[in-house]
Amino acid sequence: MSVSANALTHVFLTLFLWELAVSTAAADNKDWKNAKTLYEFTAVKDIDGNDVNMEKYKGHPVLVVNVASNCGLTDTNYRQLQALYAQYAAKGLRVCAFPTNEFLSQEPGTNTQIKEFADKYNVTFDMMAKIKVNGDDAHPLYKWLKEKQGGYLGFDGIKWNFTKFLIDQKGIPIKRYAPTISPNDIESDIKSLLYKEL
Ligand SMILES: *[C@@H]1O[C@H](CO)[C@@H](O)[C@H](O)[C@H]1NC(C)=O
Ligand SMILES: *[C@@H]1O[C@H](CO)[C@@H](O)[C@H](O)[C@H]1NC(C)=O
Repeated sequence: MSVSANALTHVFLTLFLWELAVSTAAADNKDWKNAKTLYEFTAVKDIDGNDVNMEKYKGHPVLVVNVASNCGLTDTNYRQLQALYAQYAAKGLRVCAFPTNEFLSQEPGTNTQIKEFADKYNVTFDMMAKIKVNGDDAHPLYKWLKEKQGGYLGFDGIKWNFTKFLIDQKGIPIKRYAPTISPNDIESDIKSLLYKEL
């Protein structure tokens, strides 16, 4: 008798913990609509699996970009993103890259493989862990970015690798760029943010 009572306790405890985990995740996902700034997002990990406190971007313009290793746009984007970052990091620019595998599976690798790939471009900007950017499972940060800066024709989904969002020094997304807009094309917007009187 005591064995089955134990088993029952075990089942209830497991169910309880599972529900707790699910409801915590749901709360996280619900809260994104109320977020005012980039700094409020917590469930972000870097490519090494460390938690990232988004408050580190306070006071910095940030270019948020979804990346993929095997895309036709990969080479240009990695080179130009790194060049822009190298040129303007000291002035305050930050680049925050999220690998995704949602576009023709062009980012199939593990975080370790993606990091090795980025190393070939001598990337020194921030590489985050792989996430989803579209659908119900999209990271709350991306749900928020897409709502704040919608896409063409009322379709807010991220269409392809290397969509970019420019976020100002106060954490507000101010502009969205299609994948075919290269990082160099964004330089003037970045400069106007960097040299703007706040
Ligand atoms: C990545 O996206 C762009 C923009 O939609 C597209 O032109 C390009 O062909 C894509 N890359 C590959 C390898 O399909
Ligand atoms: C990365 O750095 C190495 C060593 O400085 C250099 O030889 C190489 O060309 C760089 N790669 C790129 C893509 O800039």
